[in-house]
Order: sequence, then C-alpha cells, then structure tokens
Amino acid sequence: MGIAMSDKQFGDLRKIIYTRSGIHFPDNKKYVLESRLGSRLQELELENFEDYIAFLTMGPYQQDEFQEMFNRITINETSFFRNEPQLDVFEKQVLPELLEARKSTKRLRIWSAACSSGEEPYTLAIQIHRCLGLRAADWKIEIVGCDISEKVLEIAQTGVYTDYAMRTTPTLIKTRYFKQDGQQWLIDEQIKKMVNFQLHNLKDRLGAKRFGTFDVIFCRNVMIYFDDAMKDTVVQCFSDQLAADGTLFIGHSENIRTSNQFAAMPIAQGFCYRKVKAVTKLAA
Ligand SMILES: C[S@@+](CC[C@H](N)C(=O)[O-])C[C@H]1O[C@@H](n2cnc3c(N)ncnc32)[C@H](O)[C@@H]1O
Repeated sequence: MGIAMSDKQFGDLRKIIYTRSGIHFPDNKKYVLESRLGSRLQELELENFEDYIAFLTMGPYQQDEFQEMFNRITINETSFFRNEPQLDVFEKQVLPELLEARKSTKRLRIWSAACSSGEEPYTLAIQIHRCLGLRAADWKIEIVGCDISEKVLEIAQTGVYTDYAMRTTPTLIKTRYFKQDGQQWLIDEQIKKMVNFQLHNLKDRLGAKRFGTFDVIFCRNVMIYFDDAMKDTVVQCFSDQLAADGTLFIGHSENIRTSNQFAAMPIAQGFCYRKVKAVTKLAA
C-alpha cells in the first residue's frame, strides 16, 4: 500500500504545480500524483504528503525538488513521425514556401516546444534534411527542443531510442537515418547536430525570449494539460517568438483561442496557425 493523499493535500499540491508550470490536474487525476510521488516520499523518508509539500516549498532544496517532481509527474508519451498527415503538411507545403522565403539568408529556425525525449524535433530535422537534399550543406538549420522535464531531455541528448519510440517510423526512414544496435536505434550524427535541447518551462513566457525568433513552432500534445489561462500565456509567447510569416502547429486534437494573435488555416486532420497580420496581408 502506498502513502494516501488527502483531498486537502491534493488541492494544495495541484495549486502549487499549476502556479509553477500551468499543468492542471483535474479532480479525477488525484491518483496520478499519489502514485507518481508516493515513491518519492519513501525515498525521502517522509511520512505524508503534508511533509512533502513543506519539503517542496520551504526547504533549501526547493528548486531541485521541483525539477525532480516534474521529472515524475509529466506525461512524456511521444514517437518519431507522430501524426504523419500533419507532418506531411509541414514537409510538403510549409517547408517549401519557407525555403523560398528564406533563400537569401539560408537560415531556418524551428522550435519544438514540449519536445519530450526528442522524437519530434529529430523528426522535423529528418524532414528538413530530406527536403533540402544536396542543398543541406548550404543552409543553417537550428531546431530547439525544450521541455520542463530534465529526465526526458537527457534521453533526447543521447539520440538513442528503443523499438517503442520507432513504432510510427516508416521503414525507409529507419534505414536511412538510424543505425540499429541490438534493441537500440541510434540517430544519424548529422541529424543529431541539427537539434539543440534546452530545459524550459512554457509558463516562463519572458524566459523564451532567450531563444529568439522562430520560423515554425511545433507545440503538440501538451495544451491538453493546460487550462485556458495557461494556454493564453503560451499563445502570447508563441506570438512573440514567431516570425511574421511563421507557422504554428499544435496537436490535432487541441485548440487555442485565435481571435487576437493567430488565425486558423485548415490542413489535413485539423488546422495550423498563422499570425493574424500575415493572414490579413495574404487576403488583401
Ligand atoms: C505528451 S508529451 C508531447 C511530446 C511531443 N510534443 C509529441 O507531441 O509527441 C508532453 C510534454 O510536455 C512537457 N510539458 C508539460 N508541461 C510543460 C511546461 N509547462 N513547459 C514545458 N514542457 C512541458 C512534458 O514534460 C512532456 O514531455
């Protein structure tokens, strides 16, 4: 039997988590915190969640413990080439337009926000590499992958994956861009060099300024954990960090309020988003 969490402790803890990260745990997810943090209480030899909350919020180890907690409570489900129809739109429509628009600078910057263990940004790197072909050497491509969990970023930085991570990867891609070593798949060194991983909390809108401007932002399958207020913060951040003619992709089952900053553009299986000003200009 694990350590039980009272409703009051759950309420206090989820408020702390929300304030810090924007991640909202609804009433029916108490068991997630209880089970994922129960083992942490045992490691720390704490008797109950009240002591854990005090340890988290008052002790000298606050910063480290918040990190440890996010490593444990985040849902990091991902895979290479996840939701291929959406990625096809990126590769076959958005990317060619962008390469044309940036042909004088030959510089392209992509942000994979909430990238988990790196499968998404590496997928984008593979797509860009495949699209550029022999021209790849002439272009400066920068892909930034960020996440709130240090644990998943450590995996991302190794570039070594299991069969599970490869479950939605086309065979041709496996052969061309990975080396198989027993049960492991090693990403091609050229692709690895295109991606730079950074610890970043999407709640920290101003902290994202350090990344500079991006031509495309992918933020998929994380908004589901945020409420409207947090989504608004994140959307404002993306509006600040996206080039005027840039494109935002979110998860195909997710939505954002679009009125001020972004307009929805219908694509296969959903929408991508463009800045309102760019859309108005296109329509004029
Ligand atoms: C389900 S994964 C999605 C990974 C990838 N984007 C995909 O669609 O396959 C969600 C990721 O969001 C991260 N995350 C959750 N809250 C975050 C926050 N406030 N800031 C940055 N990353 C966050 C989690 O750690 C997790 O790795």
